[in-house]
Amino acid sequence: MKNEKVAIIGAGNLGKSIIQGLIDTKSFPLKNITATKRNLADLKDFEEKGITITSDNSSAVEGSELIIVALKPHNILSVLEEISSKINPDKHIIVSLATGISIAQIQKSIGKDLPIYRAMPNTAADVQESVTCICSTDLDKERNETVKSFFNSIGSTIQINEDLMEAATVIGACGIAYVLRFIRAMIQGGIEIGFDANTASKIVTQTVKGASELLIQREQHPEFEIDKVTTPKGCTIAGLNEMEHNGFSSALIRGIVTSYKKIEK
Ligand SMILES: NC(=O)c1ccc[n+]([C@@H]2O[C@H](COP(=O)([O-])OP(=O)(O)OC[C@H]3O[C@@H](n4cnc5c(N)ncnc54)[C@H](OP(=O)(O)O)[C@@H]3O)[C@@H](O)[C@H]2O)c1
Repeated sequence: MKNEKVAIIGAGNLGKSIIQGLIDTKSFPLKNITATKRNLADLKDFEEKGITITSDNSSAVEGSELIIVALKPHNILSVLEEISSKINPDKHIIVSLATGISIAQIQKSIGKDLPIYRAMPNTAADVQESVTCICSTDLDKERNETVKSFFNSIGSTIQINEDLMEAATVIGACGIAYVLRFIRAMIQGGIEIGFDANTASKIVTQTVKGASELLIQREQHPEFEIDKVTTPKGCTIAGLNEMEHNGFSSALIRGIVTSYKKIEK
């Protein structure tokens, strides 16, 4: 994925995180990236780094092969309809990041038979730590690899079926917010028991990173690692059980299901 030209159509929060991640990899040719939005003011820093910025979606599509559409679900289909005459099935790969918009809907808006992918990254793309769930009906191995390798440059990828894309949105993309709220609560607790906010934040963020790495590197179940730190009659199990009595796991699961139902609607 070194030579394809990439257009990010609708470079808002997520689009900018992806671009920042690509910039920081230092291995992605920035001259191959075009970013679009109507108000270009907050893309000026990218322009200084060699990225093309424009409000003209059609020219961005014409000059690129991989088209990452990072528009909101409410206008993605109308914008795709507007630019459909510029989309060439023999040249372009379309990747939609929009929550809740199916491949069939995108196909209908473009009105052509062409390779369409849906991808669900998260804003940790900014630091190349996104997990991106990808689905497509495209069977072409080379194009599959192109899309995968693009998102691998900002983290890791998982291939899933389209019917799981909304679930992927909840635990992958909304998940960033859940985890950040958890971190914030831990910092608040740390301050109450004696640390200043800055020190509490350093301890908590590294603890969360360490806990994740334990699971990623050792491929263990969380409860296995929890058992190691819960001494009988000790302070960890006392705190954990108090959290559970107050609905800790239940609140998280119910929140996840509520987010999911909201997308389904
Ligand atoms: N944020 C996440 O964590 C996340 C994660 C996974 C997927 N998603 C999905 O990613 C998509 C984008 O989310 P977001 O949070 O990045 O939204 P966002 O910040 O609102 O970004 C969308 C951008 O599209 C631009 N835009 C609107 N109309 C346009 C047009 N006609 N031509 C070109 N640009 C246009 C807007 O800028 P202007 O007003 O300046 O044009 C805006 O900055 C959504 O569909 C969402 O479901 C988000």
